[in-house]
Amino acid sequence: YEVDWDASAAEKGGWDSFMDKEIHEEPAAVQRTLFGRLDEDGNINLDEVHIDEHDFKAVDKIIVIGCGTASYAGMVAKYAIEHWVRIPVEVELAHEFRYRDPILTPRTLVVAISQSGETMDTLMALRHAREQGSKVLAICNTQGASIPRESDAVLYTHAGPEVAVASTKAFVAQITAAYILGLYLAQLKGAVFRDEIHQTLDSLKAMPQKIQWVLDTQPPRVARAAEQLADANSFLFLGRHVGYPVALEGALKLKEIAYTFTEGFAAGELKHGPIALVDEGEPVVFIVPPERGRNILHAKVISGIEEVKARGAFIIAVAEEGDKDVERYADIIFWRPQCPTLMSPLVDVVPLQLLAMDMAKQKGYDVDKPRNLAKSVTVE
Ligand code: G6P
Repeated sequence: YEVDWDASAAEKGGWDSFMDKEIHEEPAAVQRTLFGRLDEDGNINLDEVHIDEHDFKAVDKIIVIGCGTASYAGMVAKYAIEHWVRIPVEVELAHEFRYRDPILTPRTLVVAISQSGETMDTLMALRHAREQGSKVLAICNTQGASIPRESDAVLYTHAGPEVAVASTKAFVAQITAAYILGLYLAQLKGAVFRDEIHQTLDSLKAMPQKIQWVLDTQPPRVARAAEQLADANSFLFLGRHVGYPVALEGALKLKEIAYTFTEGFAAGELKHGPIALVDEGEPVVFIVPPERGRNILHAKVISGIEEVKARGAFIIAVAEEGDKDVERYADIIFWRPQCPTLMSPLVDVVPLQLLAMDMAKQKGYDVDKPRNLAKSVTVE
């Protein structure tokens, strides 16, 4: 009787790839990032951040910088923070930011998002921001990395080490951390009623369970979809509002590990160009907003689905459980449990990560170590 012991398999905790393991750690990643920051009364406590309350109160603009997945987490955060705090939030790719003479003042808060904390593009951008006198707060997953060390303050994501090159659990933890920052600023500035902050925090606290629901129920559907779509040469991803950055992230995952040509678009842009790409059988993934009947964007996304369906597209939708409009048109549906629109990215990204992983596996690729990519890019 021989035991086939392999250190790497042990580290994967029974999963056949780190990516699979890390996707399944997403409920815990959100939970850990969230819970340490709430005090007994359910208020957000960010003493750990060491930025003076007065400095925070003086902030009149936020610029989020990052690359790849981190930049999409920043785009999600923009929708939430502007809504809660009522100050402008810009999101910029770190490598573009530094070279265009951005407007930075001491009242600008630059939020640098990075899983590794070593991305050179992001590091150089934050150095530039500090030289111009702005404060920099890092949202980072790696303790003591260069980006948090060189920032004025750090809000760590507690996703745990991420080994697979394609970022998964760090993304949901980054959104969670950015939401905490947004709600904290709203709390400080009195921009939102305390009840609304508490309600939003309750929705956020419910998200680990909702992600768990997706992980418990949707993988077989995703696996079937990956089989069906294994030969597709290109994909379009469409979403609106916070579904837009989720579409971009879904498209990025499929590029990174399944080497498939994908494009993510804002669904409203469809009629301004991308619809010309739609042909018989073209797979088009729609992120359908929640709150059917109550959310104007829901109807708009459905009409986008009708448009591409009429041109023969193969529709894959991420939609709220029981969404009858989606059932009418979609060829494949990945379900999300009910949640408010701003929380939906935390669940919607999960089936898209699984889809990319399953498609890469179908094609026989190494999902943890895609060709040509590095986990952290330490050159500019
Ligand atoms: C690399 C990785 C991506 C990641 C990006 C930003 O390109 O391959 O997965 O999103 O860097 O990394 P960071 O560590 O700064 O979040």
